[in-house]
Amino acid sequence: MKLTSKICDIFEIDYPIALAGMGGASTPELAAAVSNAGGLGILGAAGCQPEELREWINRVRTLTDKPFGVDTLLPASVRRASQTANSDNGPDPMEQVKGHMAFAQQFMADQQLEKPSRAGRPSNNETKPPGKRLVPLSKEFFEAQMQVIIEEKVPVYAAGLGSPGPWMDEFRYNGTKVMAVVGAVRHAVQIASSGLDVVVAQGHDAGGHNSPVGSLALIPQVVDAMGNVPVMAAGGIGDGRGVAAAMMLGAAGAWIGTAFLAAEEAGILQFQKQALVDGTEEGTVISRSVTGKPARLVRSKWTDAWENADINPLPMPYQSMISGPILAAASAAERADIYPGIAGQGMGMIKAVRPAKAIFEEIVEVAETALSSAKHFV
Ligand SMILES: Cc1cc2nc3c(=O)[nH]c(=O)nc-3n(C[C@H](O)[C@H](O)[C@H](O)COP(=O)(O)O)c2cc1C
Repeated sequence: MKLTSKICDIFEIDYPIALAGMGGASTPELAAAVSNAGGLGILGAAGCQPEELREWINRVRTLTDKPFGVDTLLPASVRRASQTANSDNGPDPMEQVKGHMAFAQQFMADQQLEKPSRAGRPSNNETKPPGKRLVPLSKEFFEAQMQVIIEEKVPVYAAGLGSPGPWMDEFRYNGTKVMAVVGAVRHAVQIASSGLDVVVAQGHDAGGHNSPVGSLALIPQVVDAMGNVPVMAAGGIGDGRGVAAAMMLGAAGAWIGTAFLAAEEAGILQFQKQALVDGTEEGTVISRSVTGKPARLVRSKWTDAWENADINPLPMPYQSMISGPILAAASAAERADIYPGIAGQGMGMIKAVRPAKAIFEEIVEVAETALSSAKHFV
């Protein structure tokens, strides 16, 4: 029996499974492989400069004629910060940057990390088209990204953080389907009021920014609150059994990140893929040390350093100014002890690096078997 749901009609895809938008990791090659296999490939474009994003969209279009999507972040905190820049909101993060930089420099010296040369940086940066570089995750940055997404009339847009509400009229005009990732019922209700096609309920097990609420408890509660708006489940879905379980909880499909990180096409470094294969379900931690927002990361000397520090990470987007050079240096030196990457608790299910098509097909087959045999329990 074939796995299907109304998600397939909404996105015009064969199976109700999406590659999660994972910044830098969900490349055009990975997204196209998932779309070609019958799912919905989503570009993890959160860190792309606007012209790089346009290039990614063009590239995915050369690799597949199937529907695909683009995921970016629209953090409400950044919009709020720009609106209240001159009001009294506690210490100005820009003034704290210097002290945090000193912490990072000491860490770099202790770990004998060298500032990477341009050539040593991960490949994402090497092919960036020229053009004005905007400060990543600033308001100006994500508004310029949205302009490209609208101009390119992409089939699907996903907001990984925040609300796509202000752009809904243009999306509707273009025929773009819109989804948003939420971690609480009240966020789902708030964001769905802008007229979303699909909501993604992402629980605490998930890699990256996630929710304080576990996936098993969150998913049915978001499903109940959404009524007719279909919900895709995310967080800890590492194989087809997870997809089947999510559908039993009322989800209409799954949005899967970590399981696709070990795909050959994923845009992370080889030593980070090996760290996923070597990792276990206990190997992740929630930390603000990379982006400034709580995110599930693979535990490392960098996350430990912040856990033991007597200063707190800065809010988004300032903490990336502190972590960026460290992570670039650790990547260039292939230091899995410092930057093994970002992953969810499903990491322990990863046994090998494989082509995305093989990962996808196995997920579908196992989900179909699990759902077909569910009737034996009653
Ligand atoms: C390496 C990595 C990067 C991520 N980057 C983003 C991102 O840029 N935007 C976003 O919406 N979510 C991001 N996420 C979260 C995923 O979209 C997704 O919700 C999550 O991976 C689902 O949980 P799972 O990893 O357990 O499958 C990221 C997750 C990972 C593992």
